[in-house]
Amino acid sequence: MKKIDRQINHVVFQPTFGNRPNQYIGRDRVIEQFIMGLQEPIGSRNRCSLFLGQRGMGKTALLLELSDRAVKLGYVVARVTAHEGMAQAIIEQFQLNGSTFFKDDKRQLTGMAAGALGFSFGLTFSDVTERQYGFRSKMSLLCDKLAEKDKGALILIDEVRTSAAMREVASAYQELVGDGKNIAIAMAGLPHAVSSVLNDTVLTFLNRASRVELGLISTNLIRAYYERAFKGIGIKISDEYLDRAALATHGFPYLMQLIGYYLIQYTPDGGTVDAVIMDKAERSSMGDMENNVFKPILNPLSDNDKFFLRAMAKHGDTVSTAKLKVAMGKRGPALQPYRKRLLESGVIEAPRRGELIFAVPYLAEYLLQE
Ligand SMILES: Nc1ncnc2c1ncn2[C@@H]1O[C@H](COP(=O)(O)OP(=O)(O)O)[C@@H](O)[C@H]1O
Ligand SMILES: [Mg+2]
Repeated sequence: MKKIDRQINHVVFQPTFGNRPNQYIGRDRVIEQFIMGLQEPIGSRNRCSLFLGQRGMGKTALLLELSDRAVKLGYVVARVTAHEGMAQAIIEQFQLNGSTFFKDDKRQLTGMAAGALGFSFGLTFSDVTERQYGFRSKMSLLCDKLAEKDKGALILIDEVRTSAAMREVASAYQELVGDGKNIAIAMAGLPHAVSSVLNDTVLTFLNRASRVELGLISTNLIRAYYERAFKGIGIKISDEYLDRAALATHGFPYLMQLIGYYLIQYTPDGGTVDAVIMDKAERSSMGDMENNVFKPILNPLSDNDKFFLRAMAKHGDTVSTAKLKVAMGKRGPALQPYRKRLLESGVIEAPRRGELIFAVPYLAEYLLQE
């Protein structure tokens, strides 16, 4: 009887947010487009990308994957979560991650000459630069310095939203591009990160970025991954249950991690996945989905928003707007504003004209039983 290494489970499946997955599944086209962008001339649209998706859709995991790919293509990467101090954090990340390329630079602090270049040694700024220069100038110096080693600069911003700090980074990026620096930027955030009615420079910047709405990943790829992972960990599972497990994820990355994780946790040593284990794993996964995905999505919505969503949920997976109008009746709120807002906030999607679907699997079921 083979003992299942439950310690390994925590490595193979990690149902948490913001971690680097043990294996990155799917999204080939998104990654390819980004990689191609890095090879395009400075300033082209694909060198400034914005990835949008609900919680658990894999935004952070995508940025981590893109970071790895970019490093291989000769980029130094600064990855930050949007916050007020992010400009400084970006500088520090470049200094930290770029320093390995300047290890052998023997030139030490030699007074004026070195100071004139803005650096004391390596990627460390001279005192004057440190004190007197702002984000844009420091970035300009860093870009030049990295270019000496044939390196480009890639900024990754997670949980992007409009803010003063974002405005500073956005305008600096545009100016650096104007100066011909080898710089690129990729940002990720919730769908409504750019749906604000505010009309400011940040929004203009975000709206000009090459925009990708992250969708579900292929359940075929998930099935193949489950098969490999379970085999590797010593769990037996029939084709039927492999199918069921993969389909149960609906291609939602967080749910893929959850179901994989619980299947392994609930299967005894040397055991085989059966109906009882499968049911239990699905139930536990739904509990986590409820707390970590459904509730955070629904909490900020108004009662009327939820009224609209419940009316939608009653009609199954795809609802026509015409049917919805009838369902909501005369006493219901006017359809259009809610439809628009919920589309903008990424809770629902319109795959075709006049049709609506839920953006996250099982949200409809949850709404009906809530
Ligand atoms: N393409 C993927 N392949 C494998 N695991 C993924 C993938 N995308 C996301 N995950 C995993 O799903 C979970 C949620 O992803 P995360 O990137 O944190 O979502 P988000 O940032 O959109 O809220 C994490 O455990 C992450 O490792
Ligand atoms: Mg995230």
